Amino acid sequence: MHTCNLTTATYAETGQVVWPAAVVLSHYLLHHSHLVQSRSVLELGAGVGLPGLVAAKLTKDPSAVVLTDHTEVVLELLQKNTEANFTGDTVQPPDGPKSALLDWGVDLEEFRMTYGTFDLILGADIIYWIEQEGMAEPLFQTVSMLMSKKADAMFVMCHHVRSAQIAQSIQDIAGKFNLLCAEVGKDDLPAVCSDSLSNVPLQLLTFTPKDADIIV
Ligand SMILES: C[S@@+](CC[C@H](N)C(=O)[O-])C[C@H]1O[C@@H](n2cnc3c(N)ncnc32)[C@H](O)[C@@H]1O
Repeated sequence: MHTCNLTTATYAETGQVVWPAAVVLSHYLLHHSHLVQSRSVLELGAGVGLPGLVAAKLTKDPSAVVLTDHTEVVLELLQKNTEANFTGDTVQPPDGPKSALLDWGVDLEEFRMTYGTFDLILGADIIYWIEQEGMAEPLFQTVSMLMSKKADAMFVMCHHVRSAQIAQSIQDIAGKFNLLCAEVGKDDLPAVCSDSLSNVPLQLLTFTPKDADIIV
């Protein structure tokens, strides 16, 4: 995997490291690969793009995976990592995963018209201090607009618990967008995650539509 150059990237561009939350989310997908099989997948705030690329490796149709972030620099990084992982005898665009610009809450209708909706949405370390930065409302607006109407559609987010109030705030904001929040217990995470979990307080949450239409 490539990362942005630490000496030239700005804080806002990120993409400089693979965050522990991305590693844990990727292991979760590896151990619950049914979540990815035959499903369209969107990664939000992908940065380096690890969970989205893992999803693309797990599915029979990598072109159903779209990795997104909100700056051109990170988009280029995502394209570079996609090429590095889907070249030669493996699939390449247009059959490989796609990458696209997506700023949460912005031009969502246009994004949906271009890329459709998604059965599985992923996010690793994309919420930090929601009380201060107001990141969560546009994030959950984006999830709610771009999640498919299938009964088993899901948003899975792994985040660094940086404040005691964050879990409740996330749950409250998700509720406003009609999403039901549940925590994945540590026992449901593969043992390989224990190192990451002992170093950083991480939480893995799933969000499902409260009143999904049943479309099989
Ligand atoms: C801490 S980094 C995590 C990157 C990656 N998911 C990982 O875990 O390695 C947060 C990511 O969210 C992206 N981000 C922050 N605000 C965003 C917004 N409003 N719209 C889209 N992406 C955003 C940043 O560009 C960055 O890539």
